[in-house]
Amino acid sequence: MEMNCEDSPSWWKNGVLYHMYLRSFADGNGDGFGDLKGAINRIDYISELGVNGVWLSPTSPSPNNDWGYDVSDYLGVHPDYGTLSDLEEFIDRCNRLGIEVILDLVPNHTSSDHAWFIEALADPHSPFRQYYVFSRGKPDGSPPNNWLDATGGSAWTLDPSSGEYYLHNFLPSQPDLNWWNEEVHKEFEGILRFWFDRKVAGFRIDVAHGVFKDELLRDDPPAPEISKEFSHFGLVETYSKNREDVHPLYRSWRKIADSYDPSRVLVGETWVNDISRLASFYGNDDELNLAFNFMFVFTEFNARAFSEIVGNTLNALPKGASAAWTGSNHDISRFPTRWADGDYDKIRMALAILLTLPGTVFLYYGDEIGMRDVDVPVELQRDPMTKLIPAARFQRDRARTPMPWQEGPGRGFCDPNTTPWLPFGDDDGLDVESQRRDPNSTLNLTKLLIELRRQVKESLLDYQLVEATDSIWRYRCGSLEVLANFGDEIYALETERSERVVSSRQLEGVVIRGDSCIEVGPKEVIVLKR
Ligand code: GLC
Repeated sequence: MEMNCEDSPSWWKNGVLYHMYLRSFADGNGDGFGDLKGAINRIDYISELGVNGVWLSPTSPSPNNDWGYDVSDYLGVHPDYGTLSDLEEFIDRCNRLGIEVILDLVPNHTSSDHAWFIEALADPHSPFRQYYVFSRGKPDGSPPNNWLDATGGSAWTLDPSSGEYYLHNFLPSQPDLNWWNEEVHKEFEGILRFWFDRKVAGFRIDVAHGVFKDELLRDDPPAPEISKEFSHFGLVETYSKNREDVHPLYRSWRKIADSYDPSRVLVGETWVNDISRLASFYGNDDELNLAFNFMFVFTEFNARAFSEIVGNTLNALPKGASAAWTGSNHDISRFPTRWADGDYDKIRMALAILLTLPGTVFLYYGDEIGMRDVDVPVELQRDPMTKLIPAARFQRDRARTPMPWQEGPGRGFCDPNTTPWLPFGDDDGLDVESQRRDPNSTLNLTKLLIELRRQVKESLLDYQLVEATDSIWRYRCGSLEVLANFGDEIYALETERSERVVSSRQLEGVVIRGDSCIEVGPKEVIVLKR
């Protein structure tokens, strides 16, 4: 199998982006929450990692019912994080170090505190009423249809003063926008331009698969028994999200992005279970530049499963398209826990694999040190969305705990006497400072892999499967050859003379006998440069 990327290299193509969950990255003003000042103080670290870009989690003002994913002003900066000029300074400082910054854009819904929604509720005849999805209930007074929100309750809340319901696919305080209204399109065009004008290099688009709903508001069908586990509380979101109508919208946004310069990037949060649907978000190289692949995220950690999902994805994407790979984010279990169950050999394998795939790699803050999920006692939990779901599949606070920069109280994240907004994990000597000192640490492995990726960035044009068995996955990607041993036995092979590059287990001294025999130990990845 051969995949080709476009000729023109963009900074993000085959690059690495660092997903900074700002609230947990570094506290610069002593309140226990991460902020822009804290992030600015840590820019050297980002630069030292060698990443090409940063994706900042939402920075807009918000009442924080969904920690920023409930926006009350798209053109502002949340005072918890600082000011617009702090954000501009962050972008500028990053740019000067050759790092681009993308923001999180939330077009599916606003906060109920947004001025548009306040107007919409106050006056049913206001033009802002049409910005949202209001509908009369059924004749018996029940909600217009069976759609369920993110807590499993009805996705409709009654506005008692008008007798109409409004739609919210997430929390009741996150009313969904009405993308059938051209005025909403115009507002967002203005929002895109506002940030592009401020040197933002692109956007991660929240709920990119879901912004359009069925105009007829038809009921979502029940999920077949076999896929109940992955359904939305027993329903398939055929009508409440996942409409094909999003494509013209992304074509129009791509035109805006390209009109600034073609290296701007639009990345979709595309939670779909089907690779051809994932591929559709790229359009004909005229929609999203990148679409997150959650099928990869939830792949089992074994040779066949990884090789299959990577091969299938690359085969399905349109010619020239770049895949978007990630293992962790703020909504799901971190990969060091989910894939590796805290086993550092596996964590390091996963990093070596992620960082040698063709396309764009997103590391979530802490991935580079193998940061695992943290048990957050119920009294300290802060995420209203997963707190509200007794049967939540995942308690999201576990993946959002503050970055451990060093040992001891405050962990270098905040003042030692300040209580961080979420608790730290164990003080286990695996913090950034400790790992900086250890030449064989996960952090140093990550840096080495990113550096290697930079060196061969332009060559990562094609992926070729060499071998996939129950325990071995061997592939070539540009000038790299990757040997991943998921099994318990040593894997020895004859290979052409290659420059030895890196082993996930031991940063110095890859075991190579003679010129051509390589041994890959259990739970080890060896990367060769050809
Ligand atoms: C996306 C975000 C998630 C948020 C939801 C609603 O899935 O990643 O954190 O809760 O959208 O905005």
